Amino acid sequence: MNINGTHYTTIWMTHANEKVLKIIDQRDLPFRLTIEEISTLDGMCTAIRDMHLRGAPLIGVAGAFGMYLALLESSEMAPDTAAENAKKKIIATRPTAVNLVWAVQRVFSVIQLAKSPAEKIQAALSEANAIREFEIENCRKIGEFGLPLIEKIAGKKKGAPVHILTHCNAGWLACIDYGTATAPIYAAHDAGIPVHVWVDETRPRNQGARITAFELGEHGVPHTVIADNTGGHLMQHGMVDMVIVGSDRTTRRGDVCNKIGTYLKALAAADSNVPFYAALPSSTIDFSMSDGIKEIPIEMRDENEVHYVTGMSVETITDVRITPKTSKAVNYAFDVTPARLVTGLITERGVCRADETEINTLFGKKCPPASGMSGVP
Ligand code: MRU
Repeated sequence: MNINGTHYTTIWMTHANEKVLKIIDQRDLPFRLTIEEISTLDGMCTAIRDMHLRGAPLIGVAGAFGMYLALLESSEMAPDTAAENAKKKIIATRPTAVNLVWAVQRVFSVIQLAKSPAEKIQAALSEANAIREFEIENCRKIGEFGLPLIEKIAGKKKGAPVHILTHCNAGWLACIDYGTATAPIYAAHDAGIPVHVWVDETRPRNQGARITAFELGEHGVPHTVIADNTGGHLMQHGMVDMVIVGSDRTTRRGDVCNKIGTYLKALAAADSNVPFYAALPSSTIDFSMSDGIKEIPIEMRDENEVHYVTGMSVETITDVRITPKTSKAVNYAFDVTPARLVTGLITERGVCRADETEINTLFGKKCPPASGMSGVP
């Protein structure tokens, strides 16, 4: 997608230097466009943990390239040992989004299959690139399959805009391109369907207010930022036609884990009969888990993300404390919306109900491989 008229993806490498990854440092958005260069495993782990980059598909791809970087710097260590260590280190950075485990495991498997150290490095690079391409294409298809859902609502609204509420940032900046929740929105906007997006600010890190609003604005999509608690009121008054969110891990029975606060939007949507969709690539489905509330590990982040808000003061990006110095805070990063509150899942293979039978009909019992290899969990 574009920033200031220039096409960007969120993570890339130039042919001139295949030892350095470039990423958009999202901590500076929407105030500044900062491109960070990463050339070490530690650098990539820091970028994922400290959220220079974020969003389930993107951290998966970043983790995959982290495995490649680990092999590049492993001259002192056997490549398989370096890969094993790197796998553990990367997976420990963020526990909730299953894309990270999926992508890292995929690269680890090709490293093990390759023979010489040079072949292992090449295999890791090709697999990371394949995963990146796979996720771009997945998001494009999510847009294609989600578009008719918006078209159908637009058909009933006789030219009035379709109001879509979204939470957090499940846009192209959380992926590589297009986004998950935003892909159908961009497709509808580009097809000339009038859409308007209610953007939940998404405390504590404000991914909605800062990142979703930024990317929708860059693409010219009408949107309004709302305080997190506003959605229920809007739904009660017929001001939301549908909700589309992303997901960090969806279980085989369709429980959707996403940014903290998603569950409350799903409850409000159910009470007001507003359709609630989760848009996700198959790399986000965890076929090993069924009951999301019991089984999905919920990341706990630093309480300072609750105590402080980041913003722009004159020309400086700065953190401002908003709680008393003596107060404690707790920071659960994700919650689980049970399948019964989810109208449907928008995936790269089509739209299905959030239930095990329909998910299996689309995907079998595991996520399709990124590069034609099989047998990778
Ligand atoms: O903590 P974050 O910002 O990485 O959380 C991201 C989300 O919750 C997104 O909604 C989710 O990853 C879906 S991204 C396409």
